[in-house]
Amino acid sequence: MEFNFNIADIFNQPIVEINRDLIPPGFRGDRRTLWNTVNKVSEVVNAIGEASAAAQGLPKPITSSERLKNSEHKLYLLIDQHANAGKGAVTGMLRTGAKGLYVFDKEGQHYQVSPPCILDFYIHESSQRKGLGRQLFQHMLHKEQVDPGKMAIDRPSEKLIRFLNKHYGLNSPMKQMNNYVVYEGFFPKKQTQS
Ligand code: ACO
Repeated sequence: MEFNFNIADIFNQPIVEINRDLIPPGFRGDRRTLWNTVNKVSEVVNAIGEASAAAQGLPKPITSSERLKNSEHKLYLLIDQHANAGKGAVTGMLRTGAKGLYVFDKEGQHYQVSPPCILDFYIHESSQRKGLGRQLFQHMLHKEQVDPGKMAIDRPSEKLIRFLNKHYGLNSPMKQMNNYVVYEGFFPKKQTQS
């Protein structure tokens, strides 16, 4: 995804983490440059949010700069710094955050939890199935020090279900009433009576 400004100047690493302040990591500059940069980051977040929604057939974006500003979520952006004749391009995004959820295990026992969640995940159509999704996901797991099986996933697409099965061996997704999906290892192990 290309923009009419220089992405490589704003995002100087292959994967950057953005949060509610919309300030790119390593930003240096005066107040005017900051304002200008935040506006550009906002444009990037809105554009990639729209592209993700379109790819998932959602009626409207679930990721936007406004939503990010009002949350504690993290947005990881995958950057190709060499694309677009050196101006750079944004290749994908992954948004995570904790959510308060009621979830049921296979026995019907319910749990009130606030797990880390996968909220939105998208790789640009031109770059899917080339390992970039895994690269971005691995980065997130490392940064957040979380096991993929301990995460809840908001309305996963079939592609994401397959992705999680292929790369992390997760199978038998348990769809919850709130449309989140969790896997077997999500629940605490039950004590067996001796
Ligand atoms: N059909 C079936 N499985 C797919 C597809 C597809 N079109 N695309 C990716 N996968 C799965 C497969 O397991 C695939 O392995 P395979 O090619 O050997 O079959 C594996 O993902 C490929 O792994 P990566 O290359 O690392 O994944 P990719 O870079 O394509 O990123 C992602 C995965 C994010 C799901 C991407 O395909 C995408 O953006 N899809 C469209 C949007 C989407 O469905 N996002 C998830 C929405 S749900 C949510 O965000 C909570």
